[in-house]
Amino acid sequence: MVALTRIEAKVQEFLEELQSPLVLELSANLQSGKMLRSKLALNIAAESEESVCLCAIVEMIQSASLLHDDVIDNATTRRNKPSINALFGDKNAIMLGDVLYSKAFGELTTFQKTYPLIPRIIANAVTTLAIGEMEDVELSKEFNDDEAKYLTMIEHKTAALIEATAYAAAFLAGKNEKDAERFQIYGRSLGVAFQIIDDVLDIVADSKDLGKPALSDFKEGKTTLPYLYLYHLLDDAGKIRLRKAFKRDLEAKEQEWVLEQLHTSGAITKSIGLARHFGKVGVEAIANQSCDKLIEIMHAMIDRDF
Ligand code: FPP
Ligand code: MG
Repeated sequence: MVALTRIEAKVQEFLEELQSPLVLELSANLQSGKMLRSKLALNIAAESEESVCLCAIVEMIQSASLLHDDVIDNATTRRNKPSINALFGDKNAIMLGDVLYSKAFGELTTFQKTYPLIPRIIANAVTTLAIGEMEDVELSKEFNDDEAKYLTMIEHKTAALIEATAYAAAFLAGKNEKDAERFQIYGRSLGVAFQIIDDVLDIVADSKDLGKPALSDFKEGKTTLPYLYLYHLLDDAGKIRLRKAFKRDLEAKEQEWVLEQLHTSGAITKSIGLARHFGKVGVEAIANQSCDKLIEIMHAMIDRDF
């Protein structure tokens, strides 16, 4: 998609405006991801100077949040390459995140006159995603068996920015408030389904594709949906065994047991089922908007391998 290259060039242009060789040296090591948020926005609003600018802003916020997240998670890899914190240390990763984030906010003010709702929509989403990250860290302190808490956390941490991007793009596309809200629901559902599938892939995907070792979430203290479902499906002895495995570097035999239980109990299938449910909610919300491409994006996102 030519437009995605245009967005990457716009991000580069914004960074060059800062006239800082340090920023350019560090940012050259950022790996570009799937650009899900940009693909979404460009399938709602046509490609234009404004939509490319909105996408560049959102991608910079996304990169900033991942820079900070990798420091918080002590992650040494991101998208199969060494993370910025691994290459240049935590301080540089945090500061590069701050630069990307504040430059993005500066550029967001250019929408104030033409689309006054957009800066507020994006700013609110960033506050929510930061709260979502706090909730994630808090939930990771202990084994979590509460599905509602997990769903609220992923709605904040992951879905908020995707939802805001879809909502903002709908205003760029000239939709009225009621129709824009349909895209907002679609974006939220896509975001929640996306995170559930990400959490499933941490268990089932090839670790080479993931760019991190499999089952790393549970080791890091994240009781993601499949573990949470498994817990409720196990008998008392199984529940104790699973709790013991939480936040541990497991021996091969114990790791095999956890993996086998996740598959045989139906916990993985049930988790994918919930992602499909959110997918259906999102697709239904935009049913009258003639957006076949958005339906395709939802299905491809749920049925992906990594
Ligand atoms: C990835 O989660 C992290 C997020 C989706 C959000 C992170 C948000 C912040 C750190 C708040 C700060 C925000 C700004 C703009 C500076 P994950 O660890 O589950 O996913 P991963 O496996 O990709 O790391
Ligand atoms: Mg992380």
